[in-house]
Amino acid sequence: MTLAQPTTQLPITNYQSPFLSACKREPVDVTPVWFMRQAGRYMPEYRAIREKYSLLEICYHPELAAEVTLQPVRALGVDAAILFADILLPAIPLGVGLEFAKGEGPVLQNPVRTMDDVKNLRPVNPDSDLGYVMDAIRLLRGTLRHGSAQASNGVPLIGFCGAPFTVASYLIEGGSSREFLKTKTMMYSAPEVWHALMERLSVVLSDYLVAQIRAGVQAVQVFDSWVGALSPSDYEAFVLPYSQKVLTAAKNEGVPVIHFGTNTTTLLPLMKRAGGDVIGLDWRIPLDDGWKLLGDDVAVQGNLDPAVLFAPRDEIKKRVHDILRRAAGKPGHIFNLGHGILQNTPVDNVKIVVDLVHEYMER
Ligand code: CP3
Repeated sequence: MTLAQPTTQLPITNYQSPFLSACKREPVDVTPVWFMRQAGRYMPEYRAIREKYSLLEICYHPELAAEVTLQPVRALGVDAAILFADILLPAIPLGVGLEFAKGEGPVLQNPVRTMDDVKNLRPVNPDSDLGYVMDAIRLLRGTLRHGSAQASNGVPLIGFCGAPFTVASYLIEGGSSREFLKTKTMMYSAPEVWHALMERLSVVLSDYLVAQIRAGVQAVQVFDSWVGALSPSDYEAFVLPYSQKVLTAAKNEGVPVIHFGTNTTTLLPLMKRAGGDVIGLDWRIPLDDGWKLLGDDVAVQGNLDPAVLFAPRDEIKKRVHDILRRAAGKPGHIFNLGHGILQNTPVDNVKIVVDLVHEYMER
């Protein structure tokens, strides 16, 4: 690639990313918008690649991971790219036997249930054991900065990891779960095993996130997708200190940190205490109420119900505008869904949301 090629792109030096500005609660001209799971099966371009490669094969090949990361940036015009990877990748070098079974989601051959299981978890060096993730980041930052034919105008790249609780729940349950019964049983009946596992995970996940930042991601998101299964007191005793370690490790690297969960209405003040420049809000709480609970000294991200993307255009518009009205032009709102894009979401409706957010003027 030659750097001197003519390009229709904005000069990067003058480009102020509205996403990064909003993370820092700086004023922006337009509200930035991106979507969790913006790369995925709802996109025909993604399905075309998935016909030939498994999810893990895409992750293992930096050029494929980079291509899939850029697909939604090109198709939708979102204000941030999220690295294509999965929160369970660090489980592979830990040695728990991760597989993505067709149609079933993640399955672990060797779940973690006892102190011996925790002790048998292998050491993880993110730069060697997850080097393919770092290579994808380096490839994307080259592409994103210098602009290959269709790359986007210096759109910032978000790295991510799972939070210790959400990753622990997969390790203990052996896959996805509704009740988190094995997870809570470990917490309540064998707290020493729980704390040993969370301690281990908080180190592995901190190292992994720091390695991503050093490879070039410009912001990070910590996904505590299932933490809303806990009461505030259990969150405080069993989760908060470990999430805090991961969030603080990332913060110390100097990039904005997004702390995300769902079903967290009663946990928001504690999640803020754990850390994050930006806190995720799902659709169960109106954006202004959630922001009031958190206080003005953090930014917020959200909070459209992913199911709204299946509604007619006028209904989508009403609900997008309702969120923007509640944000009231206050610096520090990043538009997103309250959780990831659902599988059969019409691409056109996702694009409608991007345009509605970018065209919204009433301030
Ligand atoms: O576009 C992006 O957001 C980046 C890529 C991304 C993936 N997983 C790829 C993926 C991200 C950010 C994740 C995070 C992730 N992975 C979470 C947290 C976010 C959330 O949704 O709460 C969780 C819980 C996982 C674990 C996981 N990975 C599950 C439960 C599944 C199966 C369920 C499903 O949706 O199929 C996966 C598989 C997975 N990871 C897919 C994608 C695009 C599914 C599509 C495929 O198989 O091609």
